[in-house]
Amino acid sequence: MSPRQKALFLPKKQGNFEIGFRSIPSPGVGQLLVKIQSAALNPTDYKSKDTGMFVTHYPAVLGRDIAGIVEEVGEGVDNFRKGDRVLAHGKFTNDFTAFQQYALTVASFTAKIPSSESFDSAATVPLGLDTALVGLYGNEFGAGITPPWTKSAGGHESKKPIVILGGSSSVGSYAIQLARLSGFYPIITTASPSNEDLVRDYGASHFFDRNLSGKQLQAAINKIADSPIRIVYDAISLPETQSVGWGLLANNGTLVLTLPASVKEDEGKERRVVQTFGNPHIPQNEKLCCSAWAVVERWLSEGTIQPNKYEVLPNGLEGIIGGLERMRLGQVSGTKLVAHPQETQ
Ligand SMILES: NC(=O)c1ccc[n+]([C@@H]2O[C@H](COP(=O)([O-])OP(=O)(O)OC[C@H]3O[C@@H](n4cnc5c(N)ncnc54)[C@H](OP(=O)(O)O)[C@@H]3O)[C@@H](O)[C@H]2O)c1
Repeated sequence: MSPRQKALFLPKKQGNFEIGFRSIPSPGVGQLLVKIQSAALNPTDYKSKDTGMFVTHYPAVLGRDIAGIVEEVGEGVDNFRKGDRVLAHGKFTNDFTAFQQYALTVASFTAKIPSSESFDSAATVPLGLDTALVGLYGNEFGAGITPPWTKSAGGHESKKPIVILGGSSSVGSYAIQLARLSGFYPIITTASPSNEDLVRDYGASHFFDRNLSGKQLQAAINKIADSPIRIVYDAISLPETQSVGWGLLANNGTLVLTLPASVKEDEGKERRVVQTFGNPHIPQNEKLCCSAWAVVERWLSEGTIQPNKYEVLPNGLEGIIGGLERMRLGQVSGTKLVAHPQETQ
């Protein structure tokens, strides 16, 4: 194998992306080397480019969502073999990121891709799913409800209402699917009317046009929920969606956000606001995410979790540049953009 690979570099803070070469790393204990076939794009990637968020060293290679083929297995890994098709949640360190042709992955946050799924569909899963699951089930970065895949779970949330604002976003789509797994009902969501069928397909029982005013949304949603709404997952977390979510939340409820809070907690009513952090590699999330990654292959093969719709970008890693720009401009709807690093010229 060539010791060098192509990668999409961000040379400096707020710099311009450029294609370059870097060496192919070797897997350490508990790690895999993966030849990346599909890398999905996330809003975090353009935000990292614009603000330096999560970047500790330059030149930086970004990208968190990896799908590919295992090339080499590190010491202590006995559940993967060379040639396995896998998806993995990357890390914020150049050897472990997605916008390159080879990356290391941490075996506990890597899963085999069932034959029913492509590399492209599998690449849409890692960050979106982890963010949804930490937001619902995480104790520190989430609402702390019982994960439905653990033995102690037993229909805890059955027949309780949940609101997921932004159901057609990647994070929102996985939040809907996990809410269904947890037994919530009704599952109420917002999106553009063009995505109504999509969000219903993910498992939403009620859909509202996200273009309604805050007041209209609150009134419509309150009519549907016949018991107090104790969890609102705001996948969008703009000030206007946060205030809708906050307005809907019952006493003792939790508003889960994906971005910093603009609403203020009111101690008297004991409502919580929590900003989630969908990174499985931090100690606070490790145990929860490990237990979920152990069942990801089954979730995908049984259709419990349906990956996002996707669009493949042209020109390998180069295509990521225009894709991130479209995301920044809000031109991507109900779809994950995916690049093929091996097709880089
Ligand atoms: N805290 C963390 O760890 C973490 C992790 C991942 C993502 N995030 C953040 O979470 C947010 C969502 O990420 P993502 O990857 O899920 O985004 P995404 O898939 O790129 O989001 C695009 C979707 O957002 C929807 N949307 C935009 N404004 C909306 C509104 N006012 N109401 C309802 N839906 C709206 C659009 O819906 P329509 O087209 O249907 O209108 C579109 O389908 C981003 O800000 C991201 O940076 C945070």
